[in-house]
Amino acid sequence: MRKFLPAIGAVAVVVAFTAVRIGQSEGPAHDYAGSKKCRICHNTESKGKMNDVWAKTNHAHAYERLLTKEAKEAAKKLSIAEPEKSGECLRCHATAYGFTKKPVTKVVKVEEGVGCESCHGPGSDYSNLTIMPEREKAIATGMTYPAKDGCTKCHNAESPTWNPERYTDKNGNKVGFDFEVLWEMIKHSIPEKK
Ligand code: HEC
Ligand code: HEC
Ligand code: HEC
Ligand code: HEC
Repeated sequence: MRKFLPAIGAVAVVVAFTAVRIGQSEGPAHDYAGSKKCRICHNTESKGKMNDVWAKTNHAHAYERLLTKEAKEAAKKLSIAEPEKSGECLRCHATAYGFTKKPVTKVVKVEEGVGCESCHGPGSDYSNLTIMPEREKAIATGMTYPAKDGCTKCHNAESPTWNPERYTDKNGNKVGFDFEVLWEMIKHSIPEKK
């Protein structure tokens, strides 16, 4: 009997491993948690009130934008009647679509617009005190770092209202996106300890 145990152990490992692989192929490896979850820890005075800062940026209102006349007009040119229901728009205007043309989570509503996790990665597995404070662990469980590398997943010429000369960078060049210029408009950081 003793002789068989390692073999059974090995089979169990293979089965468990396969189960994990199958689980992953059904959807994203890490689910979203929603910006409200981040708020629990990141919206205090000492942490820079990040959810309050974000709520005042256009990202937080990116879904509402799709309900405007301006959006309907931009959509009409692409033969899209309802931009607020189209994956062609929501893939950049809502975290819930995770850069795809279909919703990738049931946790986050489209109304959240471009939430924390569009830039920092799906947070259900890293947003706790065991993992979050250790950068390597957080990256291993879904956090995107540095977040600045992800801006051009949405800020690019596939955007129907893209204007390649919308901004002026520090050298005076007209550009469609520039991290330094745009970060100034949405920046949030942990205040320095006095
Ligand atoms: C249980 C509390 C908690 C929750 C919930 C939480 N965080 Fe954090 N987070 C922390 C702590 C603690 C740190 C370490 C830095 C600090 O002390 O503020 C941190 C750090 C970070 C950092 C900086 C990482 C680095 O390595 O520099 C980012 C980005 C971040 N959190 C994003 C998020 C996002 C996005 C969410 C929601 C999906 C979230 N956090 C939810 C507690 C939390
Ligand atoms: C590739 C990503 C992407 C897609 C797809 C996308 N948008 Fe946007 N949209 C953006 C970005 C980024 C901005 C912010 C403007 C900027 O700084 O370039 C924006 C801004 C807007 C604005 C505000 C006007 C402006 O230019 O500031 C409207 C209206 C809009 N989008 C409508 C739509 C509609 C309608 C669709 C679907 C037909 C759509 N978007 C699809 C990325 C996208
Ligand atoms: C549009 C993208 C974007 C969104 C949305 C966003 N962040 Fe960030 N965040 C960044 C970038 C860029 C940085 C700078 C560091 C980096 O590049 O990773 C950053 C930095 C941080 C840091 C570290 C700050 C420090 O001083 O070390 C925390 C914590 C954080 N964000 C939490 C949040 C939370 C919570 C939300 C939602 C309320 C949020 N972020 C929304 C892009 C974003
Ligand atoms: C998931 C897609 C997505 C990502 C990732 C993203 N953005 Fe955006 N961003 C948008 C959309 C959509 C808008 C337009 C929101 C609106 O006005 O409806 C926008 C608007 C903005 C605006 C406001 C411009 C204006 O006046 O309309 C700034 C500034 C900005 N983004 C900066 C950034 C930076 C910096 C990063 C990376 C750290 C980033 N964004 C990452 C989708 C994204």
